Amino acid sequence: MSVRGPVIAVDGPAAAGKGTLAKRLAKALGVPYLDTGLLYRAVGRLVLDAGDNPADPAEAFATRLTPADLARKDLRTPDVTRAASEVAAQPAVREALIATQRSFVGPEGAVLDGRDIGTVIFPDAEVKLFITASAATRALRRFLQQGGDMQAPDAALVLKETQEALSARDLADSQRAVAPLKPAGDALQIETDHLDADQVLAQALAYARERLTR
Ligand code: DC
Repeated sequence: MSVRGPVIAVDGPAAAGKGTLAKRLAKALGVPYLDTGLLYRAVGRLVLDAGDNPADPAEAFATRLTPADLARKDLRTPDVTRAASEVAAQPAVREALIATQRSFVGPEGAVLDGRDIGTVIFPDAEVKLFITASAATRALRRFLQQGGDMQAPDAALVLKETQEALSARDLADSQRAVAPLKPAGDALQIETDHLDADQVLAQALAYARERLTR
């Protein structure tokens, strides 16, 4: 077995601020960062490109993902977001991506963000964080992230649709049979509705440093 350094698992629902936090944590700790959602997005993209040909099962794409697949610029479109959630519910796809995620962590350790890092991929992670925010807060963040303008005439409608889409995806991610989105029993939960990114980082970093020096 290869030696692995400490793992910092950052899980939570969509648009809760996991990605921002995980990236900044990795930078502060000087370790590599993996956005595991990108793996599922890349598989979803390849499934869409293949036109849902049953001869090209999602799991086959998952077993031969390349760095170029992960570097594509078109992994955040709404159709890929939907396809990612669908392929993420397939046990064979999840199974195929386990080794990729585990082998990412070398002797220096790493920060990984996703849905099941602290529960399935690294149940023995040294630091587990579960980042949440209300559906309304997450929808607003996603709306602004996508360049939404609160003064636009259709802002309320777009915001409502964004929240519905997020909630539908969270429901699917939480209710799937394999590796559903749920906090690990030993995760520190940070509720971010009333915190900005700096405050979330400060809390997470203090906790991580305390756990890592034990
Ligand atoms: O974090 P994201 O929105 O990029 O994730 C895309 C999809 O992949 C999302 O529907 C949940 C799924 N996913 C997962 O099931 N497990 C992970 N570790 C990461 C993402």
